[in-house]
Amino acid sequence: PRVGIIVVAAGSGTRLAAGGPKAFVGIDGRSVLRHALDGVFAAPTAQVVVVAPDGREGDALSEALAASGDRRDLVSVVRGGTTRQASVAAGLDALWADVEIVLVHDAARSLTPPEVFERVIAAIDEGAPGAIPVLSVIDTIKRVAGDEIVAAVDRAELAAAQTPQGFRRDVLDAAYATATEDFTDDAAVVAEAGHAVAAVPGHPLAFKITTPADLDRARHLLGAQAA
Ligand code: C5P
Repeated sequence: PRVGIIVVAAGSGTRLAAGGPKAFVGIDGRSVLRHALDGVFAAPTAQVVVVAPDGREGDALSEALAASGDRRDLVSVVRGGTTRQASVAAGLDALWADVEIVLVHDAARSLTPPEVFERVIAAIDEGAPGAIPVLSVIDTIKRVAGDEIVAAVDRAELAAAQTPQGFRRDVLDAAYATATEDFTDDAAVVAEAGHAVAAVPGHPLAFKITTPADLDRARHLLGAQAA
């Protein structure tokens, strides 16, 4: 089946506070988006849709063409929306008719290794309507109400969701067409539409670059001097 990968990169990067959209912040010589796209092009993909911040479509296209090597014809760029869900919807609208499996990936998970893409695609190939990478939870988690601890939560029942999150294209299209609430990931949109979503092993390197400390971590992992 033909795979399309939507890379959502339209976030403002407010929590990173790097003075502009997170996707274009440099880690080493390469940006957050460029590193993410290097991983995406290592996966068996037939189309890559980059969802860019308003006004930065040209910059996103340059990054995508640089990452694509000789596969420039696989690249599409569209403008994102005000929420992640709106940005994914814009990406879905740009998918070619023959794409059967869709992966949605956060550009901010720049260092995600190719094996995670492969695990997600394999789970869908084997029949799951959707599959997402997860990591077990390390911290002890509490349920709170204001500043009061209400309950302990059994960590064994929890997992941290990562991306790329993969789905059968028909399932994801239909779930987005009927989604009412705003969710923070695609698995929640698909689960609300009544579909089972499988878990596959995630990877520590698929962490999301959100805060300045995350960016420092990415820089150290790449062996670069913190700028
Ligand atoms: O804000 P957060 O880091 O959780 O966003 C996750 C991903 O979704 C990022 O790669 C970000 O660029 C993307 N996003 C988007 N459009 C938005 C908000 C976030 O494409 N409106």
